[in-house]
Amino acid sequence: MTTILVSLPLVWAEVWTTPLAELAPSFRIFVHDRDAYAPDSIDYVLSFRPPAGLLKSLSNLKVAFSLGAGVDGFFANNDYPAHLPLVRLVDHKLSRDMTHYIVMHTLIFHRGQRAYDSHQREGKWRQSLPWRLTEDTRVGILGLGEIGTLAATRLRELDFPVAGWSHSRKNLPGIESFAGAGEFDAFLARSDILVCLLPLTPDTRGILNRETLTKLPKGAFVINVARGGHLIENDLVAAIDSGHLAGAALDVFQTEPLPESSPLWAHPLVTVTPHVAALSDPQAVARAAIDGIARFERGEPLQNLVDFTRGY
Ligand code: NDP
Ligand code: OXD
Repeated sequence: MTTILVSLPLVWAEVWTTPLAELAPSFRIFVHDRDAYAPDSIDYVLSFRPPAGLLKSLSNLKVAFSLGAGVDGFFANNDYPAHLPLVRLVDHKLSRDMTHYIVMHTLIFHRGQRAYDSHQREGKWRQSLPWRLTEDTRVGILGLGEIGTLAATRLRELDFPVAGWSHSRKNLPGIESFAGAGEFDAFLARSDILVCLLPLTPDTRGILNRETLTKLPKGAFVINVARGGHLIENDLVAAIDSGHLAGAALDVFQTEPLPESSPLWAHPLVTVTPHVAALSDPQAVARAAIDGIARFERGEPLQNLVDFTRGY
């Protein structure tokens, strides 16, 4: 009998096990740290950030499935079994919801909405022109993968000039493509709104720091929806406080939950959301895992496999 182990915070366990049980009633489903199971009986695991040592303890594990698009949590303990295929989540609804978040914060910044909110709180009727024409507000997207491509396309449809930066060159209608380290500075220099949608890997950790933030145009705005590890938060605060950057919308943080002592909470030019730019749909996660298991058991190649040499 096929056996799946779900390893996630226990408060959320039922959310993920219920659709799995509905879609695959013949599978045995265990929850790590809740159910008793024999480690050598587990065929597949579903997780986001497996605890240290767990994957190595499952001696007959065949495939690991991530319930998120980002898989850095699997490598956080430096103990990922080299032979174990890892499948990440690619789901249109996830990409769409991420795109909604990015478009929302692009427009809030572009339209100066935070200023109108504060005028309203003060009871002041103050009409002012948009800060800049849409056609002159250049959006730059770090990472033109599944999510970055959709976000870039939607922003382009709204008339923003859009460029993306990726490993490999892209050919997307109306979207300028920058590729590789050699084109990074030129990409930054033309990005009035910078959106980070990179996977967190050794190459991208800390990529948004004092030096790179300084290369953005004066008055630029940063949206980080990828991982907190991409951004050196103190460098961001310093760049905003110096007047070089106009502000930021942040969904992900170096430490999550964001510590109470973080200056980001109360910063007047920073919007903080608690890693909710998009939430994986449990039905989609269950369907992707069950489809992946079926493919694997038929001997077909797995889709959305993580490439361990690239780390994403
Ligand atoms: P993809 O793997 O589809 O895309 C990643 C993109 O980043 C690709 O375009 C890739 O280039 C590019 N890239 C990776 N490394 C480099 C590098 N060193 N230099 C230049 N470009 C690089 O990922 P997704 O779009 O599916 O997801 C992106 C990230 O979004 C996830 O890893 C996750 O961290 C985050 N996320 C956050 C959520 C939230 O709620 N806040 C929800 C969902 C995802 P190339 O195309 O050439 O390979
Ligand atoms: C993801 C996330 O990577 O939710 O999917 O952060």
